[in-house]
Parts: sequence; structure tokens; C-alpha cells
Amino acid sequence: VFHSSAMDNSCRKLIFNIYIGFYCSAIILPQMCICSYFSTPSIDQFNKDAGTFPVATNGQPFPWHELRLPTVVTPLHYDLFVHPNLTSLDFVASEKIEVLVRDATQFIILHSTDLEITNATLQSEEDVRYRKPGKKLTVLSYPAHQQIALLVPEKLMADLRYYVTIDFQAKLADGFEGFYKSTYRTLGGETRTIAVTDFEPTQARMAFPCFDEPLFKASFSIKIRRESRHIALSNMPKVKTIELEGGLLEDHFETTVKMSTYLVAYIVCDFNSVSGTSSSGVKVSVYASPDKWSQTHYALEASLKLLDFYENYFDINYPLPKLDLVAIPDFESGAMENWGLITYRETSLLFDPKTSSVSDKLWVTKVVAHELAHQWFGNLVTMEWWNDIWLNEGFATYMELISANATYPELELDNYFLDLCFEVIKRDSLNSSRPISNQVETPTQIKEMFDTVSYKKGACILNMLKDFLSEEKFQKGIINYLKKFSYGNAKNDDLWSSLSNSCLEGDFTSGGFCYSDSKTTSNTLAFLEENMEVKEMMTTWTLQKGIPLVVVKQEGRSLRLQQERFLSGVFKEDPEWRALQERYLWHIPLTYSTSSSDAIHRHILKSKTDTLDLPEKTSWVKFNVDSNGYYIVHYEGHGWDQLITQLNQNHTLLRPKDRIGLIHDAFQLVSAGRLTLDKALDLTRYLQHETNIPALLKGLEYLETFYHMMDRRNISDVTENLKHYFLRYFKPVIDTQSWSDEGSVWDRMLRSVLLKLACYLNHAPCIRKATQLFSQWMESGGKLNIPTDVLKIVYSVGAQTTAGWNYLLKQYELSVSGAEKNKILYALSTSKHEEKLMKLIELGMEGKVIKTQDLAALLHAIARNPEGQQLAWNFVRENWTELLKKFGLGSFPMRMIISGTTAHFSSKDELQEVKLFFEFLKAQGSHLDVFQIVLETISKNIKWLEKNLPTLRTWLLASI
Ligand code: BES
Ligand code: ZN
Repeated sequence: VFHSSAMDNSCRKLIFNIYIGFYCSAIILPQMCICSYFSTPSIDQFNKDAGTFPVATNGQPFPWHELRLPTVVTPLHYDLFVHPNLTSLDFVASEKIEVLVRDATQFIILHSTDLEITNATLQSEEDVRYRKPGKKLTVLSYPAHQQIALLVPEKLMADLRYYVTIDFQAKLADGFEGFYKSTYRTLGGETRTIAVTDFEPTQARMAFPCFDEPLFKASFSIKIRRESRHIALSNMPKVKTIELEGGLLEDHFETTVKMSTYLVAYIVCDFNSVSGTSSSGVKVSVYASPDKWSQTHYALEASLKLLDFYENYFDINYPLPKLDLVAIPDFESGAMENWGLITYRETSLLFDPKTSSVSDKLWVTKVVAHELAHQWFGNLVTMEWWNDIWLNEGFATYMELISANATYPELELDNYFLDLCFEVIKRDSLNSSRPISNQVETPTQIKEMFDTVSYKKGACILNMLKDFLSEEKFQKGIINYLKKFSYGNAKNDDLWSSLSNSCLEGDFTSGGFCYSDSKTTSNTLAFLEENMEVKEMMTTWTLQKGIPLVVVKQEGRSLRLQQERFLSGVFKEDPEWRALQERYLWHIPLTYSTSSSDAIHRHILKSKTDTLDLPEKTSWVKFNVDSNGYYIVHYEGHGWDQLITQLNQNHTLLRPKDRIGLIHDAFQLVSAGRLTLDKALDLTRYLQHETNIPALLKGLEYLETFYHMMDRRNISDVTENLKHYFLRYFKPVIDTQSWSDEGSVWDRMLRSVLLKLACYLNHAPCIRKATQLFSQWMESGGKLNIPTDVLKIVYSVGAQTTAGWNYLLKQYELSVSGAEKNKILYALSTSKHEEKLMKLIELGMEGKVIKTQDLAALLHAIARNPEGQQLAWNFVRENWTELLKKFGLGSFPMRMIISGTTAHFSSKDELQEVKLFFEFLKAQGSHLDVFQIVLETISKNIKWLEKNLPTLRTWLLASI
């Protein structure tokens, strides 16, 4: 099943070689065709069976019926000319594509969406040499597959090059895809328009007809015509500007390296920039709209540092002469790694010292690090097909950790990394999860691949592998991989072989393999074994969904180990549990330490059960050292009690990340019905003595989650008691927080979290201080600088009065800091007044004061507010069609809107409502993976409450 894509490809090629493409694809199922059709009807079959082909818009048969393009014709180079008009909001363009014909054919299929093609011609190399005009091509279009077919008058010959010229035009798109318009307001109140591209994964075809699949790499020479008040940017530096009659200018950009279409980019805007030069001589610039220019400096500093880091780490220089980072006022995702021209949402790039908090800084650093990593992982080496998008996104996410830890060690990003793994575990422990590598075909399915599984599980299993192989070997392996596949494409297996074949100092290579000095033959064997081991191990993580649970039982000096599939919300005693376990088996690189030895012991668990013998009897064992492994551990018998005792006696004997891991695993096991809630809560009691901030935050997070769950359901006795518990146990640390930006990164994080929670719980001193700061701020006309880490808290407290709320909304309109606007919008969304919340939604739908790009986050924030949850949910149901028009079905905002307004529900009635709505959508032909994820999450919540509410009640009563 997992390898069917490779098979499909080779079969498609086979079919084409023998010219039965039309016949097969139109008449028999392609699969059957592959197996059973070996005679070779001529291409004229097309005419005979015309009626059975897909029908093009003009009524003629369309000669191709698959979503994937044929590989008979491949692009080598694109000359692209684009002239956008920012007043009439449209563009005219033309392109000349140099293609190589691999097998004789009578048509060329390429992608094109919503482009009006005004002319298409074809020249042979000879025509070009003798300057003969092109022959006119018939253009058919088949919008269902976003394809066009160019029919040639005479057959194209194998192994020859041809030039296809296409003239086309279109409106600048309204949304966030293709070549679209974006607007911003200046400080003077003027609205200005820019034009910008965003192509990944399948939107280059909205901007120019092209072979829009990642495997079709080509070079691009781009020319942009513009007015003199604008500048034009593209992937490469400008070679020259030509002045045209009438005052228009035309920028010509250098030819790109070989690259995939989704990485092409161009922008016409009036932005300003700051620049610097990296150690290797790359010119790095950060662009923003003129009023935001002053917020670009941190990103420049970070990108210069990170670029230097990556060039060293990958041992490959960044191949382009320049790198631009641009803050786009309207942007759907967080950022996009276009080669040499990275585009960002403003809040992912700009840093305003007055309003950006420490967590904003962390975010900017992470996003810059992520997109820079893509310049190698993704741009230089690209996955063959979207089924392996994790090779891009998982790696870029993993590299955020490596690069930011090296360049900004003070951010202590590895603590953040743990959370990233914990987050995807939530999703991966539902039955509706999916394997990291997943078959996909349609644009919606492809978009759905950009999810936490690709990003976070991808990153976490890479981190686990690094821990298994050693840092040095891992790095060598990815260098091999990048060098071997530069300017090309790769798949999972290519990565595994590179990683298991990394040469260390003193080794030598031959035939792409790695040998140590002596004993070549035996080393070859060792290599082969190791290669198999890595590949075998890693495919259990990439081709299989879910996360394993390792159950450990200590019997004297013996440890009995057992692995099963971890499922939250399904208990072992449930009838469906057994079936859900079937055929799951992982190769788990276990690590552990014990009370008598803090050395890291290793063992690979490849079977369902196994036994380990300890050298001596120990009072506890802790598996998954530093939480580097992607598995959950359950200690049967007295295992948990022994660990809890140790935490209470002297928690520092366990490493900080082990303490965090224990807290995490314990609460996960509660969701799976394997540990009682009071046991997990007992484990957190030691936190009174915890000085490691990330560990403290982890414990707080669970208390907060429970609080929100109870608050939404109005279970007021429990919320009251949780509040007392929190304010009592954390009083010493709450009371010592200052309202400032002082301290280390994690001191500052703790302050934000603690004060936010304290004010949320109406802790009087917190409210008093916040109210005081808010009034001072209002009195100063918004000029007073409030410490950035408490800004959101102060605004949120201020937003509880009508005067405060109205004032904040006014400031929202005026602010030129995206970081501040986000904080204000959040504060506005915490109001208890439905009419105010409704007003926000209306503004978000209108898209002027509150931009459409912020609507998904707004709806999510309102749904988190107990007073807003019903409102947001009803709104989404009633305005589904409107929302769908703004964001595509599989898009990130749409998925966020769905899960953000539903996944917190925890009653049967709510589950029923959500189910009905999803069924209604499915009947309309809308289907998303997120539907099933949401339904399972709600069921899990219901079950959690049923099982644990009484325990929580009793435990709290006993504890306060
Ligand atoms: N390649 C993605 C952008 C993208 C996202 C394209 C979704 C198509 C669909 C980019 O590298 C990315 O991952 N952006 C993240 C930010 C990142 C720091 C996690 C995003 O947009 O959320
Ligand atoms: Zn990415």
C-alpha cells in the first residue's frame, strides 16, 4: 500500500511509452490497465473513442484524465514576463517554456487555473535558430483537474527540445493564493496596494501555466514590468531595469538555479528595507511597508546569524547571491520559503521592541530559522511528491531547534521542542491520525498534508533518530543527503540510506558508500546491516500511524517490557481496543536511567515483549531519557509510586526534561484509562519545590486545561476549588512576579503565564495592578510603554469595561505593530459581552479593520471564551459558505476554524450537533480529515469527564 505511488509513476511511464495512455485512462481503470493491457493501439484511438475522454470546456475531448501530469514532456527553462496593474488589479503576462520531449507525442499537458490564455505557439529548436514564427497551438482546458492541453499540429519528436510560448492574463487573485493583491494602511490613513505571490503547494498554476509538480524542476528567467513608484522583487537579484515609453519600467532578474515551481515568487510593492552581508557574502535584506521599517532589524540580525550557521552546518553554501525576507500585510500561513524571496506574515518577521514580548521574539526566531532551513531542505533538495512533505516540513521544524539553539542559546529552545512533540502526541493518539507519509492526489488532500503530523511528528522522530545515531553521525548523514540530491528530488528511503551511511573522520568513500580504513569487506557488511537497521526502524515511524506505549514492569532485577499502540480515549477494557491494536509494531530505540546509575542505557525494542536485566536492584527506573523518544511509558506495579516518592524526596536526581516527561506521560495515561487522575495529580505536588521553569509550566498547563474544561461546562464547584488550589500552591511564586520585562527568557515566560492565569482567575492583586497600568496607558493616549510580557494581560483586564474595550478597538485600528494588534485582538475577544464579540466577528468578516488573515485566530479566540463558544460555533455553521469563499477547503485557516470552534466540546449534545453539521458538509461534497479528528476529540473529552470528574472533585477537596 505504502509504495503505490512509486508504482503508479513507473506504470504511467510505461503506458506512455507504448501510447495507450488515452485508451487506458479513459476506458478501463488505470490500475487494471497497467496489469492487463499490453497490445499497442495507435494514438488514433483517441479519435475513435473520443466520447469517453474527459470533456474540455469547449466540448472537445481532453486527452489526459489523470491528476498527475504525464512525464513525456518535461520543462527545462521558463522565460516569464509579468505586468501587474495595481490600479485595475489585473495582470498580463507571457512565458516561453523550453521543454524536452522524452517520447513522441501530440500534446502537452500542463497546469493552469483561472488564467485566460490568449495565444499559444510552438517552435522547434530549428524554428528558434532561424527565427521562424511559432505554429499556433490548440488549447483545451479541463478545469476539474486544473490542466490545459496544448495540441500540436505535428507530432513532437522524442529527445528534441521545443519552445512553447503562451500569452495569458488574469485578475490579481482576491484571496491569499497565486498572484494576489494585498493592501495596507499608512500612518497617514492612505490605503495602498501591492501584488505578491504565494504558490505552495499547487498555486503556481494560478499565476502562470506550468508543470506544477515538485519533480519538474527547471530554471526561471523572470521579468516584471512596473510603475516607477514601485519596486519589483523576485527570487534572484535584478540584472537591469529598462525604461519603457510612457514611464513604465521593466526589471530583468538573473536566471534562477534549477527549482520547483512552488518556490517561484515575485512581488511588486513600495516597501523599504534594511540589508547586511553574511560571512559568505550573501546580501540579506528585510523588507516591510514604510511605516514598519523600524521593526525589521531583529529579523536581519537573526537571518544573518542563521544563514552563517546553516552554511557551516550543512557544509553547503547558500547558492544564490541574495536573500530577501519580506513582511506581507495579508498572508494566509505564517511564512513561505520561496527561494531567495521568503515571504512572511508581518507578525512572523517584524519585531517591535515596544510591543513585542519575549514569546513574540521566540516566534520570529523560529520562523526565520524554519524558512532558512528550507533553503536547503525543500529548495535545494525537494521531496518527489507531496506524500513526503514531511521531508520538507519535519526537517525545517527540527532544524529550528538545532539552529536556534546554536545561534540564540539564551532562548533555551529545546524546552520548547518538548512541547512540540507533546502537541502532536495529542493528535497521534487518536485513531483518526495518519502516517507521516501518506498517499495524496487532489489539491485539497495535498494541503491537508501540511499538518502537525508532517511538521511535528516529523521533527520529533528526527530528533529521536539523532539521539540514537549520535549528533555527529546524524549531521554527517544529512550533509550526505543534501549533497547527493542537490537540485534534485528525494524520498524517504533516500534519507534513510544517507543517514545510515554517514562517513566519520578517517573513513573513505567509494561508489557512494562509506568504508573505514581496514577490513573493507566486513565493514561493508556492517554498513549493510546498519543501513537496514535505520531504514527498518524508521519506516515503523513513518509508514505507521500512532505512537507506541511502552509498559514496564520491574520484577527484582528484571524489567519486563511490552509495547502496544497508545490510544487516548479508548480504554483497554473497551471492546474496540483489541482491534485497534492489531498489526502495530515499532522499532523503539529505548533509553533509560535508574536510581543507581544516571548513565544513559540503550536498548532497541523490536518485538511486542522483551526482558532486560539490570546489573543491580534499583529503587526506580525512568525510561525515555530527556524525553528524546517518541513513545509514552507506563510503569506497572509500584513503578509510578517509586518515581513519585523520588520526586518528592529530591526531584533533582531526575533530569529536568525527565520530570517534564513524567508529568506529560502521567496525564496522557489518565486519558487512556491506565492511570488514575489522582495519581497523576499527586505526581504534580512536588512542583511546589520545582525551580525548573519549563517543568513548572508543564504542570500548570494541565491545571489550566482542567480549569477551562470545567469553566466551559459551568461546573462551578470544581472551578472554584481549582482556583483556590492554584492560588494557594503557587502563591509564593505568583507574589514574587514583577510587572516588568526583566530576567531570562524563561523567567519572562513564567511571568506571562502566571500573571495571565492569576488575572483570569480574578486574583485581586493581579487585577488591581493591571487595572492601574491600563488606566495610565489610556490616560497617556496609548503612549505609555507597558512591559511587553504583561501587555496582553493588561489589555485583557482593560477590555472588561465598555470604555476600555472601545478604546482598545480604536487603538487596534491605529497601531502599526502586528505584535500589539494581536494582543489587543486577543484582549477584545475575552469580553463577556456577546454583542461585543459579535461586533468583532462582523469586523473580521468585513476584512477592513480586522483583516481576513486574522479571522481564523479571532474565531478560535472567541470560541475559547466561555461566553463566546456558542456564538462562534453558531456563526461558523451559519456562515460556512461565506467562510469557504475566503479560505479554501483544505487551507490552514479553514481547518483552524473548524477545530478551533468545536474540539473543546465535552458533552453528548454538542457531539451530536457537530456530527450533524459534518454530515451536512459531507453531503455537500466537503470532506476533511479534521472532521474525524474533532469527533474523536470530543468523544475523548466526554469520556474523560465521565471518568475523572468525581476523582478531580475529591482530590481537590482533600488538597485545599
Ligand atoms: N512551507 C510552509 C508554508 C506553507 C504552509 C505552504 C502551508 C503551504 C501550506 C512554510 O515553510 C511553513 O512551514 N510555515 C509555517 C511557519 C513555520 C514556522 C511553522 C506556517 O505558515 O505556519
Ligand atoms: Zn515549512
